[in-house]
Amino acid sequence: MKYSFGLVALAAFATAAPTEVEKEAAKIAPRAACTTAVKLAAGSNPFSGKKFYANEYYAGEVAAAAAQMSDSSMAAKAAKVGQVGSFLWIDTIARVPLVADTLSKVACGEIAQIVVYDLPGRDCAAKASNGELAVGEISRYKSEYIDPIAAAIKANPNVAVALLIEPDSLPNLVTNANLTTCQASKSGYEEGVAYALKTLNLPNVAMYIDAGHGGWLGWDANLKPGAEGIAKVYKAAGSPKQVFGFATNVAGWNAFQQTPGEFSTATDAKYNKCQDEKRYVNAFAPLLKTAGMPNHAIVDTGRNAVTGLRLAWGDWCNVIGAGFGVRPTTTTNDALVDAFVWGKPGGESDGVSDPDADRYDSFCGHEDAFKPSPQAGQWNQAYFEQLLANAKPPF
Ligand code: BGC
Repeated sequence: MKYSFGLVALAAFATAAPTEVEKEAAKIAPRAACTTAVKLAAGSNPFSGKKFYANEYYAGEVAAAAAQMSDSSMAAKAAKVGQVGSFLWIDTIARVPLVADTLSKVACGEIAQIVVYDLPGRDCAAKASNGELAVGEISRYKSEYIDPIAAAIKANPNVAVALLIEPDSLPNLVTNANLTTCQASKSGYEEGVAYALKTLNLPNVAMYIDAGHGGWLGWDANLKPGAEGIAKVYKAAGSPKQVFGFATNVAGWNAFQQTPGEFSTATDAKYNKCQDEKRYVNAFAPLLKTAGMPNHAIVDTGRNAVTGLRLAWGDWCNVIGAGFGVRPTTTTNDALVDAFVWGKPGGESDGVSDPDADRYDSFCGHEDAFKPSPQAGQWNQAYFEQLLANAKPPF
């Protein structure tokens, strides 16, 4: 699904005198690309002073969702969701052309946000997001996926781009090393992520490597191996200076700040001091620094408005009762957190709930998982409506 607002873009780029229609379009949304190269300096906050670009893909999904709503006040609220700047997931080779398309529409003063997500043997500890590339297809990952993404970004040096690198991949190598699938994926993940970091190390790019969440690498036994595992790949890539740090809670459900923590009464709580994402970031960042990696963070607040919904901390699939969380902002009140972002596009499924479907993962059949739910990445109207109804702050 792709919606085009070509008229607006045309107004921004037209060299001939604008027509009346173009003038009107420009009044509604004055959009113009930067005329000089964007440089995101290491050590700075790349989001600072910028608007989070709201990509047309998600805006299109949301517009279609709003059009289906009979309640007009709900529909009006839904329409606002499409204006929220969120990450665009490039989850297949076929979607790579969306990068150039998206970057061509970003105005000066905005920052585009893109998730790089197509490693060979993807989602090795689960089934819901198994990808198109099999273990061993690392050369396709490099030449058909990462290289063309890099080319599209190089062709748009005047656009600021935040990249979220390969959700779940390196964390899985830390905690799921016992699984034969993750053992098989290991070398491809390490080589692939290092290649991505090296190749996408462009002046207008800020990269954040996925580091799971507090309920994952936040356990006492996982913090240090987690930081070392991520830093190892960063160093293998040659310590690219456009890596700014790590991403947490991507497609996750943890609160940024909650005292006592959501799972603080669990019997094993004494083994995890990272009971919210703020505590996780602040525990993980110093270890990353020691391991030799930049340690600022972005935290996904897209769907974390309501907590206390999960039966177990590890439940990750389409959690029932969730709501849209804090909108993307640099006002995080935490010197280590560059921004709260919308990582997972709320309304897109985490995984299919039909046990007979391809890629069915039992987590999507748990009692706290919303049913029916379509394949990962596919739109789930009922789930979107729930996120909207439970949004905090409300729309
Ligand atoms: C899916 C991707 C999708 C992404 C964002 C992942 O769980 O596997 O296909 O693009 O979520 O919705």
